[in-house]
Amino acid sequence: MTSRSPSPAARPPGFVYRETKRGILRPSRASTLHCEDIALPKLAAQHGTPLYVYSAGMIRERYDAFDAVFREQPHSICYSVKANSNLTILRMLARKGCGFDVVSGGELERVLAADRKASKKVVFSGVGKTGKELTAALKAGIMLFNVESESELWALAECAVRLRKTAPVALRVNPDVAAETHPYISTGLRKHKFGVPIREARALYAKASGARYLKVRGVSVHIGSQITDVAPFGEAMARVAELVRELRADGHRIDYIDAGGGLGIAYEKANTRDFSADVAAYARALVAPLRGLNVTLLLEPGRSIIGPAGVLITSVVYRKENDGKRFLVVDAAMNDLIRPALYGAYHEIVPVTQSAGSAAKSEVTKSEVTDIVGPVCETGDFFARDRDLPVVDEGSLLAILDAGAYGMVLASNYNTRPRPAEVLVTGKSAKVIRRRDKVSDLLRAEL
Ligand code: LLP
Repeated sequence: MTSRSPSPAARPPGFVYRETKRGILRPSRASTLHCEDIALPKLAAQHGTPLYVYSAGMIRERYDAFDAVFREQPHSICYSVKANSNLTILRMLARKGCGFDVVSGGELERVLAADRKASKKVVFSGVGKTGKELTAALKAGIMLFNVESESELWALAECAVRLRKTAPVALRVNPDVAAETHPYISTGLRKHKFGVPIREARALYAKASGARYLKVRGVSVHIGSQITDVAPFGEAMARVAELVRELRADGHRIDYIDAGGGLGIAYEKANTRDFSADVAAYARALVAPLRGLNVTLLLEPGRSIIGPAGVLITSVVYRKENDGKRFLVVDAAMNDLIRPALYGAYHEIVPVTQSAGSAAKSEVTKSEVTDIVGPVCETGDFFARDRDLPVVDEGSLLAILDAGAYGMVLASNYNTRPRPAEVLVTGKSAKVIRRRDKVSDLLRAEL
């Protein structure tokens, strides 16, 4: 077996094509996509499709790269649980010393189930935390509440008094900074529902510091997700840094600046990007405005850690042509990965097995322009439109790349479709970290 790279889908060290022999009587060479040391067809045969497959090595490597670029700055990474909340993945990150950003009582419970001791490294964000959720987080003794409104501040104060427990507080400020991303996931403008306007923050901090069981500890900000230009991050940080100086002058203790998440990944032409360089540029943009401030920087990355470390494997059920328009009908659907349907998001899609020559530049592969669609009864149920793809037969496997973030967490049972299983690969070993739903699981909850 020899490694082949670069290929359209080479994502070292997580996903690479390797040459394998196929056929016993007339062996021919094929190039098969592997996750670390395991061929994806083997996992598909064992666990069925659609199937989420993650590379543990790649998750660790991306976490380490992220951590390394902030080494000059006191910081703490609080992985954003919403991106992928599988317990095994949370446990793996907790073991590396990672903290967590949660946005619901459910996510908090997940973190605690993964690692009881992780509560001290949890930040709690979200615009609509309920009294019950605030109480659970207070009892767990989390590191920081990112409070998003005056009403929430008083709700938290009330819970804290009731429990006689001090709540460490940051206000999430809305810096009114525009970030180029899909409108559904941009959050830092005045018109968005998130945070408190930065101009009103001082007055609210003054009120917070008057409440007996609230303890002002920081300022938080999050301007959106899948942001690939680092300039808006720097702009938001500059505004936050200015606020921190004012707050300190007002007598508040500010230990933390929470910069949120949002660093984008390359869904297209990923091979041309270097994550270490991208994350280094991000770190420079964030850290520059903080010079001389002496704060601990909290970071809430989700997608940039886990996105490229996962793929969704699916089988071609039918080839179909309607008046000259080609479709590959696959066994995954919008309920398994909703990003294309919801945001018109682009995901690279590659055949899991190609003839050995097709990954080499010198050979011309037979390709076709086709839509790749799921079986759900909605026109929006597609993974790609008019995509140039090597010709594949019915029964072939395709890999939808960069599906590690906002994939399984957004999966639903629409059309009474059981959600996929998830497998985590470490070198030569693969572990099912979530079993496939059974239809009986779905029926059981209904009375
Ligand atoms: N912190 C807060 C407060 C957030 O709201 C988010 C994401 C993050 C951190 C993590 O952001 P990341 O590093 O993953 O960009 N479903 C959408 C993305 C929604 C993001 C919501 N908030 C998608 O599939 O693109």
